[in-house]
Order: sequence, then C-alpha cells, then structure tokens
Amino acid sequence: MKRDLFAGKIGNEPTVTVRAPGRINLIGEHIDYLGGDVMPVAIDRFLQIEAEPIEGSHCEVYPEGLRFSEPAKIDLSELERKKSGPDFWQNYIIGVIAMYRKAGIEIPAFRAVIQSDLPTGAGLSSSAALETAVALLVESLSGVEQDVADRALLCQRAEHIYAGVPCGIMDQMAVGAGKKGHVMRLDCGDLSRSYFPIPEGVSILTADTGVKHALGDGEYRKRREDCEMVLRRLEIDSFQNLLERENLGEISEKIGERLFCRARHVVSEMKRVEAFSRALIDSDLDELGAIMRAGHDSLRTDFEVSCDELDGLVDAAYGIGRAGGVIGSRMTGGGFGGSTVSLVKTESAGQVKKSLEDFYQEKFGRELNCFITTAVDGAQVVPPSQTPANK
Ligand code: GLA
Repeated sequence: MKRDLFAGKIGNEPTVTVRAPGRINLIGEHIDYLGGDVMPVAIDRFLQIEAEPIEGSHCEVYPEGLRFSEPAKIDLSELERKKSGPDFWQNYIIGVIAMYRKAGIEIPAFRAVIQSDLPTGAGLSSSAALETAVALLVESLSGVEQDVADRALLCQRAEHIYAGVPCGIMDQMAVGAGKKGHVMRLDCGDLSRSYFPIPEGVSILTADTGVKHALGDGEYRKRREDCEMVLRRLEIDSFQNLLERENLGEISEKIGERLFCRARHVVSEMKRVEAFSRALIDSDLDELGAIMRAGHDSLRTDFEVSCDELDGLVDAAYGIGRAGGVIGSRMTGGGFGGSTVSLVKTESAGQVKKSLEDFYQEKFGRELNCFITTAVDGAQVVPPSQTPANK
C-alpha cells in the first residue's frame, strides 16, 4: 500500500482508513450457495480505502491505479444502480450504502481514495473486498458496528441486487472473518466457523492466469440453477441428503447426465471438505494433495467451470510433484479463468513459483502473476498509528 496517497491527493490526512483482504479457497468450491462447508483463507493482498466526511450529499471516490480509474461522484439522495459500462464498478459501493440505508443507517457524504494490490477479476474476491471495505467505512462514519456475519450478509445482498451476481456467502465471510495463519472452515448454512492452523513448513502459492472471469456473464448462475434443479427433481431440500447414498448413480436416470454430473461434484466436494479437515489436523500432506487433485478434476469434468490455462497450471504443479516441493494444486473461486492455489513446501516455494511462471510463459505465451500468499486476519478499520502515512 502506498503511503500518503490520500494526503498527497486531497491535501490533508484521512479521518478513517479501512482495509480488506482478498481470499483464496482451499477446498469446498461451488457448494457455498448450497449450504455446504468451505475452507477459505484471507490473503495478504488488500484493498484499502482512506476517507473523510464532507459537506453535502455527493461522495467523491478516487480509485488510484485500479483497472477502473475514473473518479466517481455518488449522489446519496439517489443511489441508483449503474447499468453495465465503465461505471459498473460503482455498484459495489452504491449497493452497500443502499443496503445500510435500507436498514435505517444513514451516513454523511465522504471523500475517499481507494488503492489495492489485489488483482481484479482473478477469482480472489476483489468484489467482496470492496464491498466489505465500504461496509466498514459506512459503519465507521455512522458510528454503528455490525456483527461480522450480518455485515457479510449485507454485502452479499448488495452484490446480488446491484452487481447482479447470485454469489454464495463464502467470499464475504472469508474477507470479513479470516484469521492469521489459519484456514477457516465455514458452514455456509448457519455461518458458524472453526479455524485450522496451516501446517508448519507449508506455504500457499497463488497463480493468477490473467484470464478474466465475469461471474455475471451467466455461467455461474447456470451452475447454481442446475443444482437447484437437481434438488427439485429429486424432491429433496439439501445435497446433505445424498451424502449417505451408497450408489449415487441411481439418481442419474431421474435427472439426466448433465445434472447428475453437477450433483456428483457437489456430493463429492462436500465429502472432500470433511476429508481435508482431517488431513489438516493430521498434517497428512499426501492426502491434502490427493484431495486437491480430485477437487480440481471434479470442477473440470463434472462441474465444467475450469479452462485450459487453469488445467495446464494444475497439471504442471503435479508434474513438479512432491519431489519438487508441490503438495497439491487446484483452481480456486468461481472458475472460467481466475487463479489456481497450490500448497507447497516453504523451502521450495520460490523454485515452484519460478517453474510455474516459466511453464506458463512457454505454454500460453503470457506472464503469470504468481505470488506466495500468507493467511491474514479479516477486514478491519486500521488504527491511525498503522495507517500508511504513519507507518
Ligand atoms: C465465487 C462466489 C462464491 C462461491 C465461489 C465458488 O467466488 O462469489 O460465493 O460460490 O465462486 O466456490
């Protein structure tokens, strides 16, 4: 994060600074919106907002060095959803403010500078980071403090209504409630969570393919609808009901091949979360790797949300193998591009990163944005002593 960004641009110190991390997900993909358990990690890439209240009813927002760099003027008396186009990103701000207003919480206008080192559209929850940072800003300016789960639900509603993405709750909870050095296990049904320490000597490597996913473009919604159709056709209210079935194949006649594959992903992924938790407790690295491999294959063939670049990177990681320090690898997030996450032995992390970068350049003719990732605490208001200007 740059120092003195707000002061340099506006001419005085901000009165409030909030910072929200991105997230990767280690296992439990495309099951959050079905009430499954997921295992994300908040990562040390952040979106930061520095702000001060101002007179009037128009907020001024300056995104610095982001993909969308045009400043925004947001009229608090309107809070209208922006149609698609260059202003679309403002919906993440407008939506969150509108949700607080709906809950009876009003804020003064503000002037804000946003900066981020979290890549956007990379499957690393840059949207949830922006929503959560805005939520914390609203709370700070209005003097209200919400519980982390209520805040996440509010941000999710803003994303559904204002960005038009029918996302689950994983991203907002991971961004809001992540814990340093730990993997969260989140029950997306009741939002209860427990935390598992990342095994000693294990590092996380994130590799952003640069292939931009656009969850709003319909495929994400279609997967969700497929799953809901499975439940309706089988007349059950949850995939948990299928977990005990000895022969899942029996349902394929009732629902057809495509929906059967979707269901097989969901059921097997729910089991993988359970097995992954046990393997983490036992520090069973071989098992963690095998589960990640199976998870990726299931997303690729049964859920059909992967792409060549993700598959290539995952195969390359397993090609390096345990001898080269790779424990496991898989795509992370919604898919259709975005990033892979790999667990690697800490002492080999630098070499694995280099090998993946070389592989990607050679195979796809493009640079890979690959970085070693540490698990951090969730979003927070930054005390003045730690703001960039004072650090
Ligand atoms: C996106 C959504 C999440 C989740 C993942 C897939 O990141 O925002 O809610 O569904 O995809 O696991």
